[in-house]
Amino acid sequence: MGRIYATAAVLGLLASAAWAAPQDVKLPENWRETFVKYWEGDRAPPNDTQTGVAWANRVALESAKGGGPLAYGSMIVFEVYKAKLDAEGKPVLDEQGRRIPDTLALVAVMEKREGAGAAWPEEIRNGDWEMAAFTPQGTFIERDYAPCLECHKPLEDQDYIFTRSFLDEAASGR
Ligand code: HEC
Repeated sequence: MGRIYATAAVLGLLASAAWAAPQDVKLPENWRETFVKYWEGDRAPPNDTQTGVAWANRVALESAKGGGPLAYGSMIVFEVYKAKLDAEGKPVLDEQGRRIPDTLALVAVMEKREGAGAAWPEEIRNGDWEMAAFTPQGTFIERDYAPCLECHKPLEDQDYIFTRSFLDEAASGR
């Protein structure tokens, strides 16, 4: 009996390890203290009722200076907020016509490590970046990450980062 359970436990561990390998990204602790906020604003379509805040770690900022691919060890944390909505479900806008962040919906993370993207097919692989998303409480969200990679894939010439020009701007100001 004990043996069967032990075997099942080992198999379960192996299966989940294999499945989880491509999303082997941890949410950094205290990123609001240790990372630099380099962008915040309304999210692009189709995320019309969201706002975002993007944070970069020191490695990302330092290596963004040259304009080319970022160095291994780079991390970007992207906070996604639900915007404040009016009675019709449309975003309430501030004086600048910007949406107003209301509640944190999720936290997305991109991390670049040597060989990290190797498990993905070349058509969607984002170089050596790996992606993950976490609940506001910091729990890893188990989901299919292929759609994330697919949407970021066309941005190869800016190392798959939509907000790259803002990152470079923040980097050059340091
Ligand atoms: C439909 C396209 C699309 C999908 C799908 C998508 N993203 Fe993005 N992502 C964007 C855009 C566009 C931005 C820039 C902010 C904005 O305007 O929303 C962005 C920004 C980011 C950033 C900040 C760095 C950067 O690229 O500017 C991270 C990190 C990120 N996304 C991770 C993820 C993760 C993880 C997923 C899947 C859970 C995901 N994205 C799915 C389009 C997408």
